[in-house]
Amino acid sequence: MDIATLHIGPYAPRNNVFLAPMAGITDAPFRAAALRLGAGLVVAEMAADRELLEGRHFRRIGAVDEDVAGAVPFMVQLAGHDPALMARAARFARRHGADIIDINMGCPAKMVTGKLSGAALMREPARARAIVRAVIDAAGGAPVTLKTRLGWDDAHRNAGDIALMAADEGVALITIHGRTRQQFYTGRADWRAVGDVVRRLRAAGHAIPVIVNGDVVDAASARAALAQSGAEGVMVGRAATGRPWLPGEIAESLRPGAGIAPLSPARQAVEITRLHEALCTFHGERAGLRRARKHLKAALLHWRERGWLKADEASGLLRRLLRCERAATVRADLRDIAERMRYREAA
Ligand SMILES: Cc1cc2nc3c(=O)[nH]c(=O)nc-3n(C[C@H](O)[C@H](O)[C@H](O)COP(=O)(O)O)c2cc1C
Repeated sequence: MDIATLHIGPYAPRNNVFLAPMAGITDAPFRAAALRLGAGLVVAEMAADRELLEGRHFRRIGAVDEDVAGAVPFMVQLAGHDPALMARAARFARRHGADIIDINMGCPAKMVTGKLSGAALMREPARARAIVRAVIDAAGGAPVTLKTRLGWDDAHRNAGDIALMAADEGVALITIHGRTRQQFYTGRADWRAVGDVVRRLRAAGHAIPVIVNGDVVDAASARAALAQSGAEGVMVGRAATGRPWLPGEIAESLRPGAGIAPLSPARQAVEITRLHEALCTFHGERAGLRRARKHLKAALLHWRERGWLKADEASGLLRRLLRCERAATVRADLRDIAERMRYREAA
């Protein structure tokens, strides 16, 4: 499979497996972990334009530490419906260190689409174009990217029109989640439909890279998504919750040397302990514990599914760790899990 180096303006991510933006999940500590563990690129949680301009968002998402990120660009996602406000938000983001601005045209949440933002923009192509143009103008030469769905519903699958519009305006990369807005997260992502968009772009002479998103959970699904869509890369969302190493592991299996070798169970437990600590440092113990619970739950369920934790062991840990209000106690338990896994690996 040809997974040639992909460019986003001046940036060439080290591989083509990206971590999806996920509100409440892809904060700075999690993005840092994913990058350290081999993800090609990470995207910060979406910021509503107003929230960003009020200065709240950057404190929350944070930029990933330079030591971890190295040459990896800081990619900030904006959501909004007013071109002028989106332009102001883009300028604000650039002043605060954003290297790439991503426009959210895919969020299905009523809270977002009700304000005519996110996926609702796909129903208003003229407004969508005005936003893309305004953000590109405001970004001052920094790459602007777009994340979208297949359309609003099955009767209105206009991702192809939106992608052509964005490419004409000068967007540097398009990510397409292979579902409509009305599907939210139900059904299966339609990677072949993403392929229709890729073909329309190529037929119109656009070389703009496309990233296929939706239901990529391992190397096999990544390969299938790439083959069925003809996209240049994949974006991994939910499956990476509690598994910051997943994009890096997938990247390695697509192209040896591009990511990281699969982590042993014990090493995974060590990484989750490290993530827990980083989340509590970044958000403070109370908020950090809450943020970390989503990852803990996902990791424990994954370990149980793999048989690395016995069913009763996992249920006991789930009960205890997801309620515990003391970070030190959670981490002591996690260190104990790592120890047990090490012992089992040796045995
Ligand atoms: C909890 C959660 C939060 C999300 N937040 C965002 C977001 O802020 N911006 C965005 O473009 N997509 C967001 N998404 C959508 C994901 O980026 C991705 O498109 C979707 O989950 C499909 O990919 P997956 O099947 O790999 O999870 C979110 C998804 C979830 C589950």
